[in-house]
Amino acid sequence: MRVLGIETSCDETAVAVICERQGLLAHHLYSQSALHSEYGGVVPELASRDHIRKLGPLVQSAMHTAGLSLQDDVDAVAYTSGPGLMGALMVGAGLGRSLAFALNKPAVAVHHMEAHLLAPLLEDAAPEYPYVALLVSGGHTLLVEVRSVAQYTVLGESIDDAVGEAFDKVAQMLGLGYPGGPQIQRLARQGNPDRFNFPRPMVNRAGLDFSFSGLKTHVLNTLKGLSNPNDQARADVARAFEDAVVDTLRIKSARAIEHTGARTLVVAGGVGANQKLRRQLAHRLGAQDVRVIFPAPEFCTDNAAMVAQLGLLRLQGAGNEPLRIRVQPRWSLDEL
Ligand code: KG4
Ligand code: ZN
Repeated sequence: MRVLGIETSCDETAVAVICERQGLLAHHLYSQSALHSEYGGVVPELASRDHIRKLGPLVQSAMHTAGLSLQDDVDAVAYTSGPGLMGALMVGAGLGRSLAFALNKPAVAVHHMEAHLLAPLLEDAAPEYPYVALLVSGGHTLLVEVRSVAQYTVLGESIDDAVGEAFDKVAQMLGLGYPGGPQIQRLARQGNPDRFNFPRPMVNRAGLDFSFSGLKTHVLNTLKGLSNPNDQARADVARAFEDAVVDTLRIKSARAIEHTGARTLVVAGGVGANQKLRRQLAHRLGAQDVRVIFPAPEFCTDNAAMVAQLGLLRLQGAGNEPLRIRVQPRWSLDEL
């Protein structure tokens, strides 16, 4: 069985083809980040319009790479139907559902975060169940216990800003571009770790929820209070912010591992690319015999391979979508 996967929930247009026997046959992605960079974040209307421009050609190029024809070789179409930006989702869902209808094949509407949770299964060194997933992206901050496909418990999530969003907003305050995470990481390397000590939000409270808006305000107030806001001072702030975020994520992840008894932590989402976060998690949790898995960067950030894979898993467990186009901009994993 071969499944075409389509992802358009935010600012990446992505198409992939996966085969039950041969694995991933094509995996194409177009990132809109340059389009949004001057605004410091994703502009929904621009995102939708760009998906419309790019998605059709991307489907064609993915089919070309896979050496397959849509008519003859695709057995189902999977598309992200939520959560995400309404207009952006509609582009992928509209094309995906219509293609499946035209081809007279099953369509599978996929939950974006569920696809992220299972993305590590795309790789050879797949994690064993149960595992804890730390999903940290521009739109989400989640700790989830994964017991098997479709068996998830959300352990904690952000009650305000997503952690990637906090990186992006703090980057803006520091006069850096979008996406902010990589730029803060770079600037923080020059920062003095002893100059500022920012709060680690909610680590002294029970539970596994996160909050980053207070930390963001703390950064703003610190910047306003600087008598000499030179490059070194900005680097010191970037360093203190990154240290506070990384510590917070590490403390809560360790707590989730302890709470569930799982021995594996999977880190997914764009913030998972952060070098300090990777080092700290691998070092501190590794010392407790916890296996820490970072999916390859291409499967960590938004992509269609994870969507095609989830479509395939769904079809293997049976389940065709009815003939309707449905998107869910807000959709908790607990509702699956
Ligand atoms: O998963 P992703 O590519 O897209 C979605 O949000 O769905 O995540 C993007 C987020 C952005 O907020 C970006 O600033 C952040 O991931 N990010 C990082 C790093 N690289 C990307 N945050 C911290 N450190 C990084 N090295
Ligand atoms: Zn995502």
